[in-house]
Amino acid sequence: MTRSTTPINLFEYQTLAAQQLPQMALDYYASGAWDEITLRDNRAAFERYKLRPRMLVDVSQRDLTTTILGQFLPSPILIAPMAFQCLAHPDGEVATAKAAAKLGSVMVLSTLSTKSIEDVASVRNSTPQWFQLYVHRDRGLTRALVERAYAAGFQALCLTIDVPVLGRRERDTHNQFVLPDGMELANFSRLNDLEIGFKPGESGLFAYVVEQFNPSLTWADLEWLRSLSPLPLVLKGILRGDDAIRAREYGASAVIVSNHGGRQLDSAIASIDALSEVVAAVGNQIDVLVDGGIRRGTDVLKALALGAKAVLLGRPVLWGLAVGGEAGVEHVLNLLLNELDLAMALSGCAKLQDIDSSLVVRGWH
Ligand code: FNR
Ligand code: LAC
Repeated sequence: MTRSTTPINLFEYQTLAAQQLPQMALDYYASGAWDEITLRDNRAAFERYKLRPRMLVDVSQRDLTTTILGQFLPSPILIAPMAFQCLAHPDGEVATAKAAAKLGSVMVLSTLSTKSIEDVASVRNSTPQWFQLYVHRDRGLTRALVERAYAAGFQALCLTIDVPVLGRRERDTHNQFVLPDGMELANFSRLNDLEIGFKPGESGLFAYVVEQFNPSLTWADLEWLRSLSPLPLVLKGILRGDDAIRAREYGASAVIVSNHGGRQLDSAIASIDALSEVVAAVGNQIDVLVDGGIRRGTDVLKALALGAKAVLLGRPVLWGLAVGGEAGVEHVLNLLLNELDLAMALSGCAKLQDIDSSLVVRGWH
């Protein structure tokens, strides 16, 4: 018998993807900002929480179904918005969308995708898709994005609020990160000539964001955004209870507790550590989701025990995409779902509603 080399967990997917991806793409995907303190802490923080399993509970039938924004979902794991997926695989966001549709997972499509809103929408089945919005200085362009997403059948608008400017990822600076020839910002080519251009001594993406994103966006602009479509608004990038309260007051239907995978403000609090305060502030009024560092079924269990309604998975999806395209993404999601299912069984939870705050305790190391 030979030893199987098929990845059996999300870390093994990362190792395999790292062997296959071109350096510039790998660095862009893997990086965090500055010293990557937050990037590391997103993981370390999960390890500080310990589980308190219940015994002698009938867990013969498990139910992972849930409802987010009133949308019925087979599991509480969504796919986080991530830019430039064609760097991992030629089918890029379309492959990710197909895998998501197969499993019934919501995919959040980035504004900065390398496949268009319409191409991604075209592979949808009955599973909802959400559109992640970056507000550009050009309001007409921003409006057009929202209108296209709505027309294409996306079912929520996920506004990312932690990128007034881009965090500094030093590997991208060294690499003078740029999209390879033939790859483009697929949502813009028909509207505009926006592109991630080569910038000597600088990440092309950093320069693009400084030039194009609107750094003066405030709470007052949310009314305008909500007027552009009837889509429910999800605010991504909340790390404080008072901001979550404001989000609800300004009409958000859900918030995502997130530090952008450690890619924006370095030394920002680990997202799992920020979760409880946000849940205490708004958790009984709007859906609270969390992302950052989720790699194991037990991480999902801890997030749900701390009051998240669902989680979003980031980089591991890119590792799956790089290794095996659509099938790789599907396998990554299935691995995590199976781990969650197993972790629930081992902790005496037959359904998501059984996962309560008494299941988790914060340890000291
Ligand atoms: C991101 N993220 C992100 N977020 C967003 O709102 N719009 C985007 O276009 C992107 N792009 C992006 C690219 C890459 C390569 C990464 C790794 C991340 C952030 C993403 O949605 C999510 O918040 C984190 O990735 C979650 O953390 P983990 O699971 O990657 O640790
Ligand atoms: C990033 C941006 C595009 O994190 O969201 O790279």
